[in-house]
Amino acid sequence: MRSVVALALLATSAAAAPSKGYNTGHGASKLNVQVGDRPYYLVNNMDDGPLKEKLQSCSEGPFKTSNFVVSHRGAALQFPEHTVEGLTAARRQGAGILECDVAFTKDKKLVCRHAQCDLHTTTNILNTTLGAKCTTPFKPAADGQPAEAKCCTSDITQAEFKTLCAKMDGSNPNGTTVEEYMDGTPYFRTDLYATCGTVMTLEEYIKIVDGYGLQFTPELKTPEVPMPFDGYTQEQYAQDLINTFKKHKIHPSRVWAQSFLPADIFYWIKNEPAFGRQAVYLDERVDTPEGYVNATASIPELARRGVKVMAPPFFALTKVNARGKIVPSEYALATKKAGMDIITWSFERSGWLNQGGDYYYQYVRDVINNDGDMYTVLDVLAQQVKIKGLFSDWPATVTYYANCFGL
Ligand SMILES: *[C@@H]1O[C@H](CO)[C@@H](O)[C@H](O)[C@H]1NC(C)=O
Ligand SMILES: *[C@@H]1O[C@H](CO)[C@@H](O)[C@H](O)[C@H]1NC(C)=O
Ligand SMILES: *[C@@H]1O[C@H](CO)[C@@H](O)[C@H](O)[C@H]1NC(C)=O
Repeated sequence: MRSVVALALLATSAAAAPSKGYNTGHGASKLNVQVGDRPYYLVNNMDDGPLKEKLQSCSEGPFKTSNFVVSHRGAALQFPEHTVEGLTAARRQGAGILECDVAFTKDKKLVCRHAQCDLHTTTNILNTTLGAKCTTPFKPAADGQPAEAKCCTSDITQAEFKTLCAKMDGSNPNGTTVEEYMDGTPYFRTDLYATCGTVMTLEEYIKIVDGYGLQFTPELKTPEVPMPFDGYTQEQYAQDLINTFKKHKIHPSRVWAQSFLPADIFYWIKNEPAFGRQAVYLDERVDTPEGYVNATASIPELARRGVKVMAPPFFALTKVNARGKIVPSEYALATKKAGMDIITWSFERSGWLNQGGDYYYQYVRDVINNDGDMYTVLDVLAQQVKIKGLFSDWPATVTYYANCFGL
């Protein structure tokens, strides 16, 4: 009897630090994590060497949930993003932290969407009567001009939002009908599971992830309408995100609040220090060479102001040295020197690497040539940059690696 109790306590504390008065979640301890075929495909595809041998040696598992693995928009490589179905898949694949990008509706309720104005490419809104409420209703391609549409969460109420079906993110700019326009899923993804994905409010997401006993990473999306919006200020929006977790009695240690806007991070550090302590600064300043240099130079000052977790896109964390080896970048070294943690994004968004990779592989393009090289890059991020977590559109790929290396 006693040992059963002890085990139950252990299982709870593995999921989250239990604390009086807080929900601790349940249900993660017995999960049969499934990594599926893709990690095996990628490992087989690797060039021969010690890393491939090590990864092959882990083929039979066991596989379990890891907080190194951060689900990016659910399991967006194959499931419509920000849906119940995507979260379900991400959990099964071993993600320990699940994401909801947060946007507000016309009635100032919070819902999960990657951008405030992506409903025209991520849902069926144009094919419903709500399409008439869009900021820019659908205009077909004509006379050499591309089709147009722009639909924002702030165009509709939360109740209206809940009637939408999520689809794979994509559109065909040449569409002359709504149906043609909506048919734009990239070839390396699939429409197999795009059968009316279930959209979620922030509260629904919290209940689901809490029920899994896992951790949260909500992102306050940069508004695409002028703020304040109908009296709704940026500060209130940032506060409402935190208030929703408080309402559901989620311990701050389970919540990794993210933003691209430093003002949001500083707002949380000042006004909600328990959440601000692990707020994640998404750093896209690195997108240009000059911005990269400025961002690297600013790290000590950000650390001094209380920022503890930096999150640039992963290309910014490595570089290729004179001997052709992938090594940590100046940005990565500066962040470590300042004593900050690094979470980075996003794996499995790039499709095929044998075509040179994309944005995420821009600094290592010359030394990668096959899909298996994803693990070559991940290995440098994990072992040398020592990142704390990696967002992935297909969590299983990262779970396989994390389990193999005890992360
Ligand atoms: C749209 O049409 C242009 C011109 O015909 C073509 O080059 C392009 O590939 C088309 N795009 C898609 C997504 O079909
Ligand atoms: C558009 O709506 C019609 C009627 O509800 C439906 O039959 C059709 O499948 C929808 N098309 C898409 C692409 O969602
Ligand atoms: C980089 O910093 C310099 C000096 O403060 C500034 O003039 C410049 O605009 C910055 N560039 C970018 C891209 O942030």
